[in-house]
Amino acid sequence: MRRVSNDAGALVEAFHARTDQQPAGVWAAPGRVNLIGEHTDYNDGYVMPFALAQRVLMAAAPRDDGTWSVTSLNNDSTETFRAADLQPGMTGWQAYVAGVVWALEEAGYRVGGADLVLTSDVPEGAGLSSSAALECAVLAALADLNDFDIAGLERAKLARRAENAFVGAPTGLMDQAASTLCTTGHALFFDCRTAEAEQVRFDTSSAGLEILVLDTKTPHALVDSEYAARRASCEEAARLLGVAALRDVTDLDSALQRLPDPVIRRRVRHVVTENARVLQAVDVLRQGRIADLAPLLDASHASMRDDFEITVPPVDLAVETARSSGALGARMTGGGFGGCIIALVPAGDVERVGGAIARSFADAGYGPPVHFAALPSAGAQRLK
Ligand code: GLA
Repeated sequence: MRRVSNDAGALVEAFHARTDQQPAGVWAAPGRVNLIGEHTDYNDGYVMPFALAQRVLMAAAPRDDGTWSVTSLNNDSTETFRAADLQPGMTGWQAYVAGVVWALEEAGYRVGGADLVLTSDVPEGAGLSSSAALECAVLAALADLNDFDIAGLERAKLARRAENAFVGAPTGLMDQAASTLCTTGHALFFDCRTAEAEQVRFDTSSAGLEILVLDTKTPHALVDSEYAARRASCEEAARLLGVAALRDVTDLDSALQRLPDPVIRRRVRHVVTENARVLQAVDVLRQGRIADLAPLLDASHASMRDDFEITVPPVDLAVETARSSGALGARMTGGGFGGCIIALVPAGDVERVGGAIARSFADAGYGPPVHFAALPSAGAQRLK
């Protein structure tokens, strides 16, 4: 994949070079990290992601021939489709674009053709929601081009529908809600049952802290099948317990006693305790006690490793090394089986902790990880 500029001006020039016209606008939608609340979204539970500065930029202009032409500057490829091509199950990166057109049409919106040119600096395959960022950027552009009045939450739901029913990934609503609803300087406390959203101030620098994101670069080969398996176990557990979703388990001990299968018991324990940790994390942030997130991050990681069983050795090594080299707390973030960790570190320590993890990876024979400091950034928006 080519590294391309994350700059709206350069994108406008690229749009002009390719289509011989000016775009009607430029839109952006970010990737995300999840601070806490993993695999809780499809259990009607709580999540608390924040948007990254890394984002998809999309320049767009209407066309009157009922055709959508989309160019990715990252892949240096152009794909073209018309209404008859909007068949669920389409593969490739363009499925995320076509899926959004399809979801809009399914919801009764008549979407006019468009030229779309995009660039993204959201790392792909790292669990940072590059696909949700793409979906939400397409939605933002097409909604404005067609004068559709669609509220943020509804946009997130349409983008998720594209992912679930068109691309075929059985994900929850977290990633699209984050990319659409997050605001600068805040984490998003989101109730996936009621869709209530609260912007919780998350100002790490005032607490003398920073968030390190480290991409382990572990290929997550198992992610699709294992994600679906975790989801199926949770639904099975809810059925056995006679509740609509694991969100409704209020007495963990008695629920565990009623479940004979040890694997299902572990899955339930993760979801129920993780929901409780999100609520504690929200309290901690509301009171500005950011350092007190650390034990919650650590407990979340242990729960994902031992109960939900979605971590892999490089991810565990990254978390352990982060802690032993000065992080207050650390956890894997995202769907699992590879991807990224986040660590809460003293301000100024991102390079030191990232470097220590890189050395531990070299010693263990793993490839080099990539890290950066994350700042809670804006959700999807029009830039020009
Ligand atoms: C992926 C999915 C989300 C969520 C997380 C795990 O990112 O897209 O819906 O389930 O995994 O928390």
